[in-house]
Parts: sequence; C-alpha cells; structure tokens
Amino acid sequence: FAARPIQVPVVLIGPMGSGKSTVGAKLGDLLGVAALDTDHLFDEVHGPIPAYFAVHGEPAFRAAESEIVLTALSVARPTVLSLGGGSVISATTRQALRQGPAVSYLDVDETEALARLGGGEGRPVLAGDPARTWRRIRSEREHLYREVATWTVTTTGLDADQVAERIADLL
Ligand code: S3P
Repeated sequence: FAARPIQVPVVLIGPMGSGKSTVGAKLGDLLGVAALDTDHLFDEVHGPIPAYFAVHGEPAFRAAESEIVLTALSVARPTVLSLGGGSVISATTRQALRQGPAVSYLDVDETEALARLGGGEGRPVLAGDPARTWRRIRSEREHLYREVATWTVTTTGLDADQVAERIADLL
C-alpha cells in the first residue's frame, strides 16, 4: 500500500464491537491523517454517554449524536471518522453520509463482536442481556448500514491492521 492523499472524510460504520475505533486509528496512521471517533467527541462535549443516557434518555442522545456527527463531517476533512454504532438511525446523518464521504461498513461476526464487548460495560443500549440485545439491534440496523455504505468490509478473521489495509486499498 502506498499512501495517497485522501480528498474526503473516510467514515467507518458498523455495530458495537466491529472494531471501528481501533481500525480508524490504524487507518489514520496509514493515511497520515487524524482519526476521530464520534463517541469520544460526544464525551468531550456532553460527558460520558452512560450518564447522558441515564439523565436525558435515548431520543435526546440520538439528537445530540447526530449533531456531533454532522459537525465532524463538515469541519474535519480529510480525516478518518468512526461513528457510534447507532448513528445511522438518524435520517439526517444517513443523508449526510450519502453526500460524498467514503463510507466503509465493518461487517462483523457475532462471536467476534461479543468477545470484544464483554459484558457491555459503558454501552447503555446493551443493558440487560448484551448478546441478545446486540443480535436484535444488529438485525434492525443492518439495512441502514448497507444503505449508506460505499463498501462493505468483511472483518471476520482479520485483525485491525488487516482491516485498515483493506480499506486503504479501496480508497
Ligand atoms: C451505541 C453504540 C456506541 C455508543 C452508544 C450507543 C449504539 O458506540 O455510541 O453506546 O446504539 O449502537 P460504539 O458502536 O462505538 O460502541
């Protein structure tokens, strides 16, 4: 792989545990650009996601998350941007994702995702039965990931370096 300058934000989407943040950091290194993570940006602006969820509820979280994503997409380019797993729920976010960024959907095997997520700590949407909830929300959102993806990258059996290299090759 020979680094080429990228012209547009490179966006990573996919369910919790698909490795978006780790792959994003590696891809940023490969491309020589900053890697941002919208969960991290959310935390900087609003504080920890679990506390925000507990106080304001999920609809308020989704609205605030969408603002963070739209701002990151509009001001920070070219960068690698990893989105929270539920960002694609927002129609406004999906619309923005169709306007030019190179969007990679990290398709992940359930066993690998659940191994990364452990007991679901720090992810309020997984409260209760993490495995069952993860399965349900992945199947609810899968068509949304596919709808906005420029590419689907099958991550099964690959480590984060390999996934990052695969995306870099697609750009
Ligand atoms: C969520 C995914 C999390 C985070 C929040 C909600 C979701 O991000 O935004 O806990 O609804 O899928 P990751 O996909 O980075 O874990």
